Amino acid sequence: MKQIFVKELLQGKVAVGETVLVKGWVRTKRGNKNVAFIALNDGSIIHSIQVVADLANFDEELIKHVTTGACLAVTGKLVASMGQGQSVEIQAEHIHIYGEADPETFPLQKKGHTLEFLREIAHLRPRTNTFGAVFRIRHEMAYALHTFYHERGFFYLHTPIITASDCEGAGQMFHVTTLDLNNLPKITEKTDTCSCGSVDYSKDFFGKPTSLTVSGQLEGELGAMALSKIYTFGPTFRAENSNTPRHLAEFWMNEPEMAFYEIQDNMDLAEEFLKYLVKWALEHCMDDLQFLNDLYDKELIERLKSVIDVDFVRLSYTGAIDILQKSEQKFEFKVEWGVDLQSEHERYLVEKHFQKPVILTDYPKDIKAFYMKLNDDGKTVRAMDVLFPRIGEIIGGSQREERLDVLQKRMQDMNIPEKEMWWYLDTRRFGTAPHAGFGLGFERLLLFVTGMANIRDVIPFPRTPMNAEF
Ligand code: 4AD
Ligand code: MG
Repeated sequence: MKQIFVKELLQGKVAVGETVLVKGWVRTKRGNKNVAFIALNDGSIIHSIQVVADLANFDEELIKHVTTGACLAVTGKLVASMGQGQSVEIQAEHIHIYGEADPETFPLQKKGHTLEFLREIAHLRPRTNTFGAVFRIRHEMAYALHTFYHERGFFYLHTPIITASDCEGAGQMFHVTTLDLNNLPKITEKTDTCSCGSVDYSKDFFGKPTSLTVSGQLEGELGAMALSKIYTFGPTFRAENSNTPRHLAEFWMNEPEMAFYEIQDNMDLAEEFLKYLVKWALEHCMDDLQFLNDLYDKELIERLKSVIDVDFVRLSYTGAIDILQKSEQKFEFKVEWGVDLQSEHERYLVEKHFQKPVILTDYPKDIKAFYMKLNDDGKTVRAMDVLFPRIGEIIGGSQREERLDVLQKRMQDMNIPEKEMWWYLDTRRFGTAPHAGFGLGFERLLLFVTGMANIRDVIPFPRTPMNAEF
């Protein structure tokens, strides 16, 4: 008999009276000496199906081993449910136990574990209602992302994970090497670029120092200079030692890059995109959102609705500094023109001052990456950060510097070796064009959409400082 999923049963895809086969994990078992009520969940939907087992028909030993966490296959008749909370249930005729879960040692025996505890058992936490909901929403958001771009004629470009360049120039890269760290080959003769005693990377796998990428943008730009509209979506890595609820060492980033787009077009796309994703969640994930709303964040659904109907505020960095300085708010970090905004500043603007998402533009060039287009004032660059309630920066992007000479000058000023970036500069040498793009932190999006408070709880296997167990 073909397995049927709980979602299909609860959505009325099977007529009452039919015999069905379901497979899944026991969430709870209760009952009395005559009957057992087993809540079975297969992850297809947040709800479990109630299996009713008349004990007269079953071996006592078998039912004894049907405990929370055990995995079962159940065959039985689908019937209308008398009990509250479900429309249908299964009158069990046959139960097979695939795998038992010893009640003495199964860590999810009881409900109500803290999220902190569940992080320590990341291998089992998908079995909880909370993480089932989060990971289903994560899937939906990835699917919506591809759909959004596909509908608009973008091409998905796969950019490398191993790279020899530091896109953001922040020096937060994880090295990739096959050299023996206990016996590193050293340079014995001085050359133009290397001094005696430093590591001889010509002996390494790629013949040069390489790292895990912090962003697919630079390669994305190469794609946009041929296909016009591309996007990347993949894991990125940052060795920033910040133990915050918004940072991961390995996170997923989506980066669209568009030839012929200027900063206004870039902002329009980012705003349309975020609204599309949030709307998608409201349309396709309501069961899971309702669960998260009720359990963790009573304002979640209202907050999601609030961003799809408003125009995002568009403001310059300089304008934002002015507002922050005039505010009565006490900030931990001082506000003055030229400083990088902290999450407390971003959240003040979004949550208190404007009470809607804000796109900040035209940041001081000294706090932004080399590739951003220099404004005519010579002091600011055509950057744009999208700031969201509860999150702060959810998107960072910019119009790119397409003028070869200006870009070369910026790279010199920032000590970025032109020699290693010849391939990037070639796009400015041959058929350069105005272009722009941005990066969405996928887990930051998920923090917003699920209402979870910690970024470690929206990715199946979080990588943070001192944490790579599972
Ligand atoms: O602002 P960032 O550093 O921008 C870039 O990397 C550009 N290359 C993007 C582009 O223009 N194509 O990062 C983009 C986004 C941030 O806005 C944030 O949402 C997320 O990535 N992000 C992180 N998310 C989780 N953990 C971290 N350590 C993150 N660092 C950045
Ligand atoms: Mg940024």
